[in-house]
Amino acid sequence: MKNIAVFASGRGSNFSAIVSAAKKGIFKANISLLVCDNPKAKVLGRAKKANIKIALVKRQDFPSKEKFEAEIIKRLKKEKIELIALAGFMRILSPGFVHKYKNRILNIHPALLPSYKGAQAIKDAFDYGAKVTGVTVHFVDEKTDHGPIILQEAVKIEKTDTFKSLEEKIHKAEHKLYPEAIRLCLEGRLEVRGRKVKII
Ligand code: GRF
Repeated sequence: MKNIAVFASGRGSNFSAIVSAAKKGIFKANISLLVCDNPKAKVLGRAKKANIKIALVKRQDFPSKEKFEAEIIKRLKKEKIELIALAGFMRILSPGFVHKYKNRILNIHPALLPSYKGAQAIKDAFDYGAKVTGVTVHFVDEKTDHGPIILQEAVKIEKTDTFKSLEEKIHKAEHKLYPEAIRLCLEGRLEVRGRKVKII
């Protein structure tokens, strides 16, 4: 079975969704490592509870981004990680890192890319008055929120929705979509040609 690392910096609800999907057999892989850069992140407690190894690697402990990433790569190699799932990891990976794991890094974004890129995507769509937003799982490339799209799911913004209720709907969609994308990837069913991902 392949080894997956999840990278997260915060709450970790997607981390937990991925862990429970693995337990349920939705995809066949080991969640072998959590990479976290934030000692205060809630996700750390979730990983401890789930008995998943943690690599807490803090940017401020390294003189450069290169050295910070070199430490992460060392930990990934140690655990023989073959697939990386970014789940609210609040750091941009360098092009060098992305190349090393080309088409083996997934990210989840809480909007229908290319709309509402950035860290406030749910709020941005809500404040804009959009009627539809959603969730995207994509491969990571050198540009932020940009790589080839694997799966997307639309989420309607009803007139009764508040920011909170929209956030809940988005997270619910994420927790279903991310394990599904991981499954397709693990089963070798994703063929990347330029920007297009063909599901075979
Ligand atoms: C999610 O909304 C994800 O789309 C974005 O960051 C958020 C992480 O939430 N990239 P959580 O930490 O998984 O609860």
